[in-house]
Amino acid sequence: MQVNNVDLTISAVEPKQYPATDYPEIALVGRSNVGKSSLTNVLINRRNFAHTSSQPGKTQTLNFYNVEDQLYFVDVPGYGYAKVSKKERERFGKMIEEYLTTRQQLRGVIQLVDGRHKPTADDVSMYQWLAYYNIPTLIVGTKIDKVKPNARNRVKNDIVKTLDLAPETSLVLFSAVKKQGKDQVWNWIEQRIGE
Ligand code: GTP
Ligand code: MG
Repeated sequence: MQVNNVDLTISAVEPKQYPATDYPEIALVGRSNVGKSSLTNVLINRRNFAHTSSQPGKTQTLNFYNVEDQLYFVDVPGYGYAKVSKKERERFGKMIEEYLTTRQQLRGVIQLVDGRHKPTADDVSMYQWLAYYNIPTLIVGTKIDKVKPNARNRVKNDIVKTLDLAPETSLVLFSAVKKQGKDQVWNWIEQRIGE
């Protein structure tokens, strides 16, 4: 998709604040700091439209980005960030779960895992949870510019094995710095939204 026009339509914490449109929606989930907001920016050709930070826990609400009046990207707070209080984590968990399990417009979820390390126990739980709810999922291994080219196959194998990826789940290695993997991610999105 050629993206020229994007706007942050709404930051929501509960269903009555979700956009009142029927555009398809694609959500991005993953650990804090894994690169969700950075991936959003690459997909929409912007530098820091979705705010990124080297400090985990930057995104705290469901942020709906209207792309060309054709779809929304939904940037979601990260999981696995120890410094967020237990109460706060429960609130995020409930907010994310409510969105992912009830939203009719949701066409798929992009789950990001850090390509520099094996997926964590939280990543495994998230993937199993998405599978349990039959939510079509794309796995993206991020920060792949930090991994030597000859180690990238191992990264792929580690992700497939650790998450026990289902045959229908695609996997893309991605770098926001090099914009590597952008077209593959867009292809998956376009399939999901029926372009
Ligand atoms: P939360 O909002 O806290 O959940 O984090 P997030 O998943 O949105 O991460 P964000 O996009 O803010 O990126 C976190 C840090 O990782 C930032 O310092 C980014 O510059 C860096 N980063 C993200 N993607 C890449 C990448 O592909 N390569 C490299 N080298 N750094 C990246
Ligand atoms: Mg973020």
